[in-house]
Amino acid sequence: MIIEMRVLSVSNQKGGVGKTTTAVNLGASLAVLGKKVLLIDLDPQANATSGLGINKADTGRYVYQVMIGANDLQSVIEETCVKGMYAVPGSYHLAGVELELVNQPLRERMLARALSLLETSFDFVIIDCPPSLGLLTINALTAANRVIIPVQCEYYALEGLGRLMKTLSVIKKRFNPRLELAGILLTMYDPRTRLSQDIAKEVKGYFNSKVFNTVIPRNVRLSEAPSYGMPICLYDISSKGAQGYLMLAKEIIRKGENG
Ligand SMILES: Nc1ncnc2c1ncn2[C@@H]1O[C@H](COP(=O)(O)OP(=O)(O)OP(=O)(O)O)[C@@H](O)[C@H]1O
Ligand SMILES: [Mg+2]
Repeated sequence: MIIEMRVLSVSNQKGGVGKTTTAVNLGASLAVLGKKVLLIDLDPQANATSGLGINKADTGRYVYQVMIGANDLQSVIEETCVKGMYAVPGSYHLAGVELELVNQPLRERMLARALSLLETSFDFVIIDCPPSLGLLTINALTAANRVIIPVQCEYYALEGLGRLMKTLSVIKKRFNPRLELAGILLTMYDPRTRLSQDIAKEVKGYFNSKVFNTVIPRNVRLSEAPSYGMPICLYDISSKGAQGYLMLAKEIIRKGENG
């Protein structure tokens, strides 16, 4: 039986909502649970790359080269500090992709095409998106079969979500009919504040069953881990943040098994 790779794009054009924290720590948690995982860092900020302890300057191999068609995905895959987790580094070069591909008719499908040619199979491919709805995010959404949308439990949480949903439906129609919403993920939830509770309620009222049961708590250990180049499961497995991402990984594995 051929099991299709599950390609999850972590997307939200709003900045600082927890995309990278989710991509890195969900990926690492899936690997800890025995899944083979590939993380693709599609953000010019390359925070996921450094958060995994990969020194961009050293590798010389970036997803940028794949995006402009100069290299295949297979040859830019790096090992990470987590067993079973691999990564394709991002870099500042990605900021130029939009302009460089302006005359490339298949520009929206560069990543999808590269993934389809991959020789190694992974249980999960996770794509960390930049905070925009530009060509990089469009490539991620065209390559993915599911989208995770992190939403920060703060003021203006719902801001921009309408536009994001519209973008998803346009991409589904034009480039990728298999694209579905995996779920809205509430992040940085602080149970002690009324604001967090209100936002969680509002988001659940709006998106109902499309909100993951797992809610990621605000946890300082999650914000410390990247500066040590480690996902939370290596930095502090007993922290609330680590437990949150492990729960999310289990929820996602379970959801996939039930179709
Ligand atoms: N659950 C959490 N608890 C505490 N801090 C968090 C949590 N999630 C994320 N952070 C911190 O909040 C900041 C923004 O998170 P992150 O970088 O994951 O967001 P992002 O959506 O990827 O941002 P960008 O849009 O710039 O790519 C980071 O400093 C991160 O360490
Ligand atoms: Mg990020």
